[in-house]
Amino acid sequence: MLITNMPEFHRHIKRVIYSEEDIKAAVTRAGEILSMEYKDKPLLLVSILKGAFIFLADLSRAINIPHEIGFMAAKSYDGTESSGNVEITMDLKQDVSKYHIVIVEDIIDTGRTLSEVVKYLESKGPLSLRIVTMLDKPERREVKIQSDYSLFTIPDLFVIGYGLDYDEYYRNLPCIAEFAQEAD
Ligand code: IMP
Ligand code: MG
Repeated sequence: MLITNMPEFHRHIKRVIYSEEDIKAAVTRAGEILSMEYKDKPLLLVSILKGAFIFLADLSRAINIPHEIGFMAAKSYDGTESSGNVEITMDLKQDVSKYHIVIVEDIIDTGRTLSEVVKYLESKGPLSLRIVTMLDKPERREVKIQSDYSLFTIPDLFVIGYGLDYDEYYRNLPCIAEFAQEAD
């Protein structure tokens, strides 16, 4: 779908950073790599709701080996000190100890949510655990965490689209765009 066909989006788009085609090429490549690396292994893709739902749907279909998917939800609390302020509000149904886990994230920003989720999953003894993120914003990092594979690295910008929201909107935007604050 062309953005020009979505006029109501224009007001909040400063510029397109990654087009639908850029994303598709990068997701296809990530799918090929995961298909090779996890061949004949029990693979579980774990997505943290909600931002990664579109990336997960596309990445799963770019993988040509059998795998399962699972969802988690986490809530972070502001105004408290350092880590430990993240609550897992929805857990996986699968027994983590039986799988090679690949966490599929939308974006790593401060890294707080992800680092708590990683600690939690590690405590359940997965066969292995890796992180794949669509976007990485390393300048914003507050805790030490790194993805094993990131499709795109971006500077400190607020972005929308391809699952990422501003106030719950724009997740259905087919590209990744810089959000235009001043349009409010
Ligand atoms: P953090 O890494 O714990 O700070 O939080 C990451 C979460 O914040 C992501 O999973 C997104 O849901 C959200 N987030 C961070 N940066 C952006 C952005 O630029 N646009 C939209 N959501 C964002
Ligand atoms: Mg997320």
